[in-house]
Amino acid sequence: YCNVLQYFLMPGSGPISCLGPWPKDVGIIALELYFPSQYVDQAELEQLDGVAAGKYTVGLGQARMGFCSDREDINSLCLTVVQRLMERNGLSYDSVGRLEVGTETIIDKSKSVKTVIMQLFEDSGNTDVEGIDTTNACYGGTAALFNAVNWVESSSWDGRYALVVAGDIAVYATGSARPTGGAGAVAMLVGPNAPLAFERGLRGTHMQHAYDFYKPDLMSEYPVVDGKLSIECYLSALDRCYSVYRNKIHAQWQREGSEERFSLDDFGFLVFHSPYCKLVQKSLARLMLNDFLSHPSPNTETGPFTGLDAFRDIKPEETYFDRDVEKAFMKASADLFETKTKASLLISNQNGNMYTPSVYGCLASLIAQQTASQIAGQRIGVFSYGSGFAATLYSLRVTQDHTPGSGLDKLVSSLSDLKVRLDSRQKVSPAVFSENMKLREDTHHLANYVPRGSVEDLFPGTWYLTRVDDKHRREYARRPVDDDLTAAPELVRSSTAPEVQDE
Ligand SMILES: CC(C)(COP(=O)(O)OP(=O)(O)OC[C@H]1O[C@@H](n2cnc3c(N)ncnc32)[C@H](O)[C@@H]1OP(=O)(O)O)[C@@H](O)C(=O)NCCC(=O)NCCS
Repeated sequence: YCNVLQYFLMPGSGPISCLGPWPKDVGIIALELYFPSQYVDQAELEQLDGVAAGKYTVGLGQARMGFCSDREDINSLCLTVVQRLMERNGLSYDSVGRLEVGTETIIDKSKSVKTVIMQLFEDSGNTDVEGIDTTNACYGGTAALFNAVNWVESSSWDGRYALVVAGDIAVYATGSARPTGGAGAVAMLVGPNAPLAFERGLRGTHMQHAYDFYKPDLMSEYPVVDGKLSIECYLSALDRCYSVYRNKIHAQWQREGSEERFSLDDFGFLVFHSPYCKLVQKSLARLMLNDFLSHPSPNTETGPFTGLDAFRDIKPEETYFDRDVEKAFMKASADLFETKTKASLLISNQNGNMYTPSVYGCLASLIAQQTASQIAGQRIGVFSYGSGFAATLYSLRVTQDHTPGSGLDKLVSSLSDLKVRLDSRQKVSPAVFSENMKLREDTHHLANYVPRGSVEDLFPGTWYLTRVDDKHRREYARRPVDDDLTAAPELVRSSTAPEVQDE
């Protein structure tokens, strides 16, 4: 491929070569999102659950929660988002040399989602595609993305794109965690000369053992959750990752002869893994607390730290649930939240936690609500957290070139219909949502199963499950893109599975 693709033209970039020096500005070139066509209203869910009005909408900061019927599973979500990305960017399946999937929605202990997606590559004849699935709660998408970026920067790279898919169906048993569900998938095209380039050497990671959220029951879609512990693990991981990130950037700056101190101001924008929006707002406040505590002599008379003197000697590890600290730093960081983070919460607020795609949904939400010139040249901090637990804070540098037709311009335009797409979903009652959850519970992992969910209600271009045969082999079809349901659906099946006569 090297020879053939030496002069292959990446979108929005000059010719690239895998024979030359280290590829420049490796990162995200295109980003595609998929979320279900139906949602439940969180205020209505509060009523159904009999909790105080405002608990989900104000307390957690969630307005709507997307969910899938039994027509969709992790394979169909990923097929949908990959095909959408390929079609909308006019890409050929030959141009992809690596495909990575990050998911924690496990429907098979051996067969990867990646191998199911390979069906989309069949017509192209391209089977030379590295990469496989990666799992650790909501962190798998980030691990997959790092694998892809590392591949492009490595000696294994053959000059082609890498494709990263993060997808999940986030569902919880009835109870306090249920309103923090959601579902969706994100696909990202990775290569050199990217409008969102990874900043080299700037990744702060923290990994540790904890049982905060895990899925030991392989017959159930539901996790076992210790909600409070998960919040503590999330916030402690954030503290540690920020500290490592700052140390690394300080070391870089010192090598360049600068003694500047890094602070939140050095991020143009910050996006976080969002289990629910309120935790993200608290997380930004938490980073400000970190800036405050690590500052050798913070000014508490004027400026951002005004009035915070009383908190000078607190120990961060004792403050995860300290109301006074939380309140003071939420107030102090309110402006920063408005300018650097709030826009990133659009999908999270409207669709809920998607697990692995959550943080990339935040990135997409942020980009969708800016012009190319507003984000050009900015540093975007990205915090990814997956229970168990694994976390990284890294940064992307947005390219300076925001001219019409540039890679950045294309990326921004491709996401500009996000709000319209979210608004075009169908609202269903909490009772219907509950019935759907019960149906998923009762039929999850059944062999010889024909899903009952409506195909007409899916967005055009959505892949859906047509049946599971007696050997648990799954077959899928795609709703036509042109919305013409009378046309025969395009069928995809495993080459070993029998033909489907009827749905
Ligand atoms: C997050 C989770 C623990 C919350 O469940 P819970 O313990 O029943 O919820 P709480 O009682 O803490 O209420 C949630 C918030 O709503 C607030 N609230 C409650 N009733 C309210 C009302 N009527 N109006 C406004 N706010 C209200 C609470 O004060 C709380 O806010 P706070 O955390 O700022 O104090 C639960 O949804 C869960 O386990 N989710 C899955 C795991 C998860 O998402 N973890 C996050 C880290 S990965």
